[in-house]
Amino acid sequence: MAQRLSEGGPVRRFRAARAVQTTKEREGREMPATIVVGTQWGDEGKGRFVDLFSKEMSMVVRYQGGHNAGHTIVVDGESFALQLIPSGILYPHITPVIGNGVVVDPKVMLAEIAMLESRGVNCDKLRLSGNAHLIFPYHQLLDRMTERWLGRNKLGTTKRGIGPAYADKAARVGIRVQDLYDEKIFVEKLRIVLRETNAVLAKVYNQLPVDEDEIVEAYLGTYRDAIAPYVTDTVNLVHESLEAGEHVLFEGAQATFLDLDHGTYPYVTSSNPVAGGATVGSGIGPRHVDRVVGVGKAYLTRVGSGPFPTELFDDLGDRIVDIGHEYGVNTKRRRRPGWFDAVMMRHAVRLNSLSELAITKLDVLDSFDTIKVCVAYELDGERIERMPDNQSVIHKCTPIYEELPGWKTDVSASTEPHHLPANARSYIEFLAEQCGVPISLLGVGPSRDQYVQLAS
Ligand code: IMP
Repeated sequence: MAQRLSEGGPVRRFRAARAVQTTKEREGREMPATIVVGTQWGDEGKGRFVDLFSKEMSMVVRYQGGHNAGHTIVVDGESFALQLIPSGILYPHITPVIGNGVVVDPKVMLAEIAMLESRGVNCDKLRLSGNAHLIFPYHQLLDRMTERWLGRNKLGTTKRGIGPAYADKAARVGIRVQDLYDEKIFVEKLRIVLRETNAVLAKVYNQLPVDEDEIVEAYLGTYRDAIAPYVTDTVNLVHESLEAGEHVLFEGAQATFLDLDHGTYPYVTSSNPVAGGATVGSGIGPRHVDRVVGVGKAYLTRVGSGPFPTELFDDLGDRIVDIGHEYGVNTKRRRRPGWFDAVMMRHAVRLNSLSELAITKLDVLDSFDTIKVCVAYELDGERIERMPDNQSVIHKCTPIYEELPGWKTDVSASTEPHHLPANARSYIEFLAEQCGVPISLLGVGPSRDQYVQLAS
């Protein structure tokens, strides 16, 4: 049943959103660093806001993940799907940086550079940390094998080798970009890791061993020289930019609830997408950061396995998938749809110390009669307001919804808050009130210009 919104709370919160500092107001500061982080299970549309903020930035830094990400940016009707290279690449004034916390498949990196350059995007300013770990074909093979081995308990990974590459990093048998430039070290490290990996592949997974010579040929014979112009000490590069008073943006991939520590473990990725990951994955300290923008969809999606309290299995879910084109950018997998979950978002606000929230894909809800928002969970008659830290509770709880009236109007041409229908504004006000964070930006369509700024 549709709930009426009271005048007080939500409206007050909406005004608070308008008080968010602009970049100009922050310009007096010495080290303006902004983090953009996904607040749900990924695919929130972070890339388009990174792209939007890029106008004011000198540098955009990826701090974790690898080519499991899929960031789509639409420029002048042309769509760019990026996996590894920071979205800021589309601006000539930006230095795009792949930080030490990222895992890099050089083959993918070179293919992405070639794709961008063939479409007129110059990649000369791209920089890659020598401390980033490399992804090898055996990581991808292991990713596929472990998923198969897990059977119905599989995680639904992107099979890009991300987990095994981070596992090697933690086990201290990973090979870093800088190792490519010391042939003796590279071959020695490869031999050590292959000794064990090939035994596992043969004895556990019944696979042929990985050929050491083939890897040496590809990585030292081709990739080493091809990526050499981009490799640098990115930690000092980022610090020099911050010290010069330039604006640096840290671009998260995946999202808060896919975080290795804070997500719905084990159905998570193997890195730390939360805002704290930006410090580790790029080499800055927490005091450098003065703004954290969370990006969340006006509803919810998830790819891969794992708990999802507000998941929709009915026609409404299919409608969200159809209208929102909810299929993986790279993997093409159908995303699981659901209603916006304010319990999760309140937790994301805490975990990331969000200063504001950008809501995307509001237009996808244009045709709905009513829209539900999960405001709490219920388990055994108990109302749960906070994100449970016990995984079994997340699996078993059911959502408590508030139902709001839809706006039944096309919002995709809105560029100012007053263009939005009253019910769309009420919906956003309600989300801000429920999540306890100002909402500063709204995405109303896929193009670069299709957004409404709520904070001036
Ligand atoms: P992995 O990162 O490939 O190891 O996959 C682990 C989990 O994270 C799986 O459920 C994936 O579907 C999910 N995942 C990884 N990258 C993304 C992304 O960019 N968007 C959404 N989900 C992702």
